[in-house]
Amino acid sequence: QFMGEIMGLSVLEKGIKDKLQVENVVVVPGNSDDYEWVKQEMGKACVSFLKKVTQSNATIAVTGGTTMASVANVMTPLEKADNYLFVPARGGIGEKVENQANTIAAKMSREAEGDYRLLYVPDPLSEISYQNIIQEPSIIEILQLIKNANIVLHGIGDALTMAERRKTSSEVMGILRDKKAVSEAFGYYFDQEGNVVHKVRTVGLQLEDLETMEYVITVAGGKSKAKAIESYFKHGKSNMLITDEAAAEQILRDS
Ligand code: F6P
Repeated sequence: QFMGEIMGLSVLEKGIKDKLQVENVVVVPGNSDDYEWVKQEMGKACVSFLKKVTQSNATIAVTGGTTMASVANVMTPLEKADNYLFVPARGGIGEKVENQANTIAAKMSREAEGDYRLLYVPDPLSEISYQNIIQEPSIIEILQLIKNANIVLHGIGDALTMAERRKTSSEVMGILRDKKAVSEAFGYYFDQEGNVVHKVRTVGLQLEDLETMEYVITVAGGKSKAKAIESYFKHGKSNMLITDEAAAEQILRDS
């Protein structure tokens, strides 16, 4: 029975690698839509991968959300490295405090015994404030750290679920529906083909910045996120997907 389950997961991992064209995949048992512990298991897989790839003096950028919060809960010191720094990937994008990137970066650094720097920006941000804020010396300094991060840890969400969670205006909700947004990551909304259809205005990491990162680590599971994960992986950069059995099975079922 036990061996059977292990075999099952490695078959799923291979299937997902081929289908989404990603170098590294870990599939944990269960469905994180139903059970919180499944997110913790994804978190543990994420921490073990981080331990392997983090070098001394690395900067690790993190996004928000409940999955990243679970990663933070199971974070431990990254034994092979020292002097690492956690930063939020982007400014606030409508999450509750406990699920904000700032909170998660601070928690990760505490658990990992590393350092952290935070990014304080109002949320949402008007065009005029945006233009002013990006000229503040303290903001310029942290933005440099974020853009030069070595590793990024991020979540993916279902587009409309995320838009509602962020109390998005009905005007933007309309745009997301018209343009058939399917997934969301880093404040960007993508359609089924992986094209960006909308972007939340905030400072921090831009999609282009991912190109120069050594590792982009994606953590997203739950049957309800299957389509969103597929959409992000059409164009989005990722070196590692950590997901769960329910999402993996659904992705392989989708045509
Ligand atoms: O809002 C931050 C964020 O990382 C989004 O980019 C992503 O869609 C979402 O959180 C994932 O949240 P959760 O892990 O709670 O599904």
